[in-house]
Amino acid sequence: MKRILTGDRPTLDSFHLGNYIGSLKNRVKLQYEYDTYILIADLHALTTHFDKTADLQKNIRGLMLGYLSVGLDHKKVTFVLQSKVPEVLELAYFLGTLTSRAVLERQPALKEKLDSGEQDTFALFQYPILMAADILLPKANLVPVGKDQKAHVEFARDIAIKFNNLYGQVFPIPEPLIGEVPTLPGTNGQSKMGKSLGNAIFLSDSALEVEKKVMGMYTDPKRIHATDPGEVEGNPVFIYLDVFGTEEDKAQIAKFKEEYRNGQIGDIEVKKYLVKVLNNFLDPIRKKRVEYEKQPNLVKKILNEGTEKAKAEAQKTLAEVKKVMKIDYLL
Ligand code: TRP
Repeated sequence: MKRILTGDRPTLDSFHLGNYIGSLKNRVKLQYEYDTYILIADLHALTTHFDKTADLQKNIRGLMLGYLSVGLDHKKVTFVLQSKVPEVLELAYFLGTLTSRAVLERQPALKEKLDSGEQDTFALFQYPILMAADILLPKANLVPVGKDQKAHVEFARDIAIKFNNLYGQVFPIPEPLIGEVPTLPGTNGQSKMGKSLGNAIFLSDSALEVEKKVMGMYTDPKRIHATDPGEVEGNPVFIYLDVFGTEEDKAQIAKFKEEYRNGQIGDIEVKKYLVKVLNNFLDPIRKKRVEYEKQPNLVKKILNEGTEKAKAEAQKTLAEVKKVMKIDYLL
């Protein structure tokens, strides 16, 4: 069975609908087809959150609750806490010896982060090396990521090829698996849902919070009266209905669209329906979350056991690495 590895930085403590559509949903599907590793990249979080370390533990726990509540199954998925496998830093050092500074200087993600005001630290500079080590240490074949991470996976590929050519075949060459999913807009109509943008509906939001957020949602700004013809395309209320409505909702949604275009229905009625659709979608996720919240020791155990397993693999890979590099000296 091919192995996939993907991960998240624990810079937030809960996932939103955009994260679900953009990655979690796909991971749930992939866990049946691949030996799946999910990494909580707390060392990578330090590249931007070195001054917010007090939040990390809460965030790690929040991510775990998120994974488990959407149906990622710990019998199929190996959950790994990055900092508890310090072997990754050792491999990162070796990979760094094969990396030219110019390549790191050219990475687009670095420029973006510096432009958005992040500190120009050495850890941020070497971000792709650590990520390559994350991927190569468990010998992952496929890396499901968003478009923004594709260059990092390509970097990991290049360095795996370089290592194998120089020292001998140790690493499978990993490939990015880029999901063709549309980005979910925010509740305020902005093109992307994001926690820091204040336009997100979280998987952990209560039914009441969802109702409040949906009733305040951005729709067609040109429409003033319910009798004005409205725009359905690009209208986040209808985008959410299309994404989260079930088969049974389809006919009703089509009817709403028709009526909306003809100015025969008010925003409020459509929004009320969306509240129902979203709460139906979120209810089973909330129930599972509550179950796991009641068992913090189980959640810890799942993460510990996954991490132990990953650590054992990491040690095996590192031994191979040192052997082909001929630095496994016997003194
Ligand atoms: N860089 C990824 C992100 O910010 C997180 C990450 C760290 C990751 N290590 C990884 C993703 C290894 C895939 C594989 O989203």
